[in-house]
Amino acid sequence: MADSSADPSRPESSLRLTSGDWTRVLLVAVATALPVLIFPDADARGTAALVAVIPGIIAVIACALWLSVHRRAEHHVGIHAQAEVRREEERALQRRQEAQLREEHARALARAERSFETFFEEAPFGIALLDDKAVIVECNRVFRRMANKTGEIVSGRPLAELLRAEDRHDLPTRLARLASGAAGPGPLEVRITAGEREIVASIFANRIEHSGGSTRLIIYLLDTTDQKNLEAQFAQSQKMQAVGQLAGGVAHDFNNLLTAMIGFCDLLLQRHQPGDASFADIMQVKQNANRAANLVRQLLAFSRQQTLQPKVLDITDALTELSHLLRRLMGASIELVIVHSRDLFLVKVDQGQLEQVIINLAVNARDAMPQGGSLTIRTHNETRAYMEQHGSEIIPPGDYVVIDVEDTGTGIPPEIIQRIFEPFFSTKEVGSGTGLGLSTVYGIVKQTGGFVFVDSEMGKGTTFTILLPRHHGKKAEEAAAAVAEEKKKDLTGAGTVLLVEDEDAVRLFGSRALRNKGYKVVEAKSGEAALDVLANYGDTIDLMITDIVMPQMDGTQLIKHVRETRRDLKVICISGYAEEAFRTRLGNFENIHFLPKPFSLDQLAGKVKEVMR
Ligand SMILES: Nc1ncnc2c1ncn2[C@@H]1O[C@H](COP(=O)(O)OP(=O)(O)OP(=O)(O)O)[C@@H](O)[C@H]1O
Ligand SMILES: [Mg+2]
Repeated sequence: MADSSADPSRPESSLRLTSGDWTRVLLVAVATALPVLIFPDADARGTAALVAVIPGIIAVIACALWLSVHRRAEHHVGIHAQAEVRREEERALQRRQEAQLREEHARALARAERSFETFFEEAPFGIALLDDKAVIVECNRVFRRMANKTGEIVSGRPLAELLRAEDRHDLPTRLARLASGAAGPGPLEVRITAGEREIVASIFANRIEHSGGSTRLIIYLLDTTDQKNLEAQFAQSQKMQAVGQLAGGVAHDFNNLLTAMIGFCDLLLQRHQPGDASFADIMQVKQNANRAANLVRQLLAFSRQQTLQPKVLDITDALTELSHLLRRLMGASIELVIVHSRDLFLVKVDQGQLEQVIINLAVNARDAMPQGGSLTIRTHNETRAYMEQHGSEIIPPGDYVVIDVEDTGTGIPPEIIQRIFEPFFSTKEVGSGTGLGLSTVYGIVKQTGGFVFVDSEMGKGTTFTILLPRHHGKKAEEAAAAVAEEKKKDLTGAGTVLLVEDEDAVRLFGSRALRNKGYKVVEAKSGEAALDVLANYGDTIDLMITDIVMPQMDGTQLIKHVRETRRDLKVICISGYAEEAFRTRLGNFENIHFLPKPFSLDQLAGKVKEVMR
């Protein structure tokens, strides 16, 4: 009975009696009327019914009232229970929400820890926390890697221990100044030596307050080794370029002076033949001028500006010719072994320069074997099928002749091997080595289109390997025969030569030398003067000899002007610079020849004769 009525969710209207209640009231009414039926006759029943009506009605009303009161009581009990249930539910909800919050908080904390861990550990630069004495408290992975590749624990070690001795001085103070900004802008540069290789690092620092009032530093380390190496390489190439320019300039001026000195010696020698009292003195002057010319050539070699006179050559023959000199250079305590390969490819090189390369390498080898040893020069053919990287060089595929120069000397320490080809790099005592030997080798080999490498092991020895590109052309003997034939010729000739040269001494010697050989010579001091001469003398000029480097109009400009009117005029360029340097500026004009300075009387006369033919 109370089930549905006690439902606390029922509305106030539910306090009214239900149809079930009315049924109950009806049953009470019927039950009250039932005793009337026990009277046998109708009259008695009627009387009884009348008598029973009043208590019946009272019973029914009482029943209805009771039911109504009962409903209300039930209702109130329901409302209380309902409120209690609701409160209990609210408390449960609150507990659930609190638990959920705690869970979320814990999750967020874990997430934050994970992302901090990632930021800290996976940062692409080193991070370390230092105490006030610059001892490492904590550090990340990159820092550990920078500090020590073997994975040794670095926490608890003073930072200074990881640095190069020169960088350790007063480190805590310097770091503190860096963190406070007192050290000025920019990071602190240090070198870390604890790992396998030395690392150059830039340090940035930040001060933080630590619990307990102490301060700590967070330092950030950037590995700038590659950048520093690049900077060093750039500085090196700038230095090489500057030295090259200097060498080129010096060589140009010297070549003019030497051309005049050698030339006037030649003129004097024509008047002072062997037997004359002055002959020996003039020869001395000429020999010394030639030695000076050799020095200038060395300068030009490493600036790769020298004029090479390449010819087709068999390396086997060149080495055989050179072997006597090499034996003398090596002395008694060093054994010289030359191993020739059969059917070696031909190469096109300047023989004198190639000899210079081999001699420089041999002399270095001798110096590396003070107690004696052996020097082996080995040749072989090699065909490289693929593009190959060798150190900083890329060797294109092709046929090469390989010359190995191998000694059993001290070897080259790994820390200097990178530098040996630098000009002026020498480990020898002042006065005994200029440091130009290997840079000359490098310059000559590169200018010839070849490659040079070094391989060395301390205490075992060093091997220099030279690769020269194969030449597909005519045999060396034929070329040599042609040169020999040229040498024997009579050097006198006829014709008119216009000599353009701004250096008085060179012009004077040149014109006298050519007049002596039978030529008519017209001189011009500059490009502009030469154009005037050509305008006046016109077609009578057969050959123009011109210097290349001149103030205002230089040789190449002059040639371009002359070519506009005299397409057929033969030209010889004379210069202390390499031929390639001006050839590219001239384009493909024909009938342009070249004579490198310094030249002797015979070389000048020979060249003029060859061109005039
Ligand atoms: N075969 C070798 N064995 C050991 N060290 C070598 C060898 N060749 C060169 N070196 C090292 O390379 C350095 C540079 O050589 P390079 O020939 O350029 O100059 P140098 O021999 O010192 O002086 P220079 O050749 O001008 O007289 C040498 O000082 C030496 O330390
Ligand atoms: Mg040397």
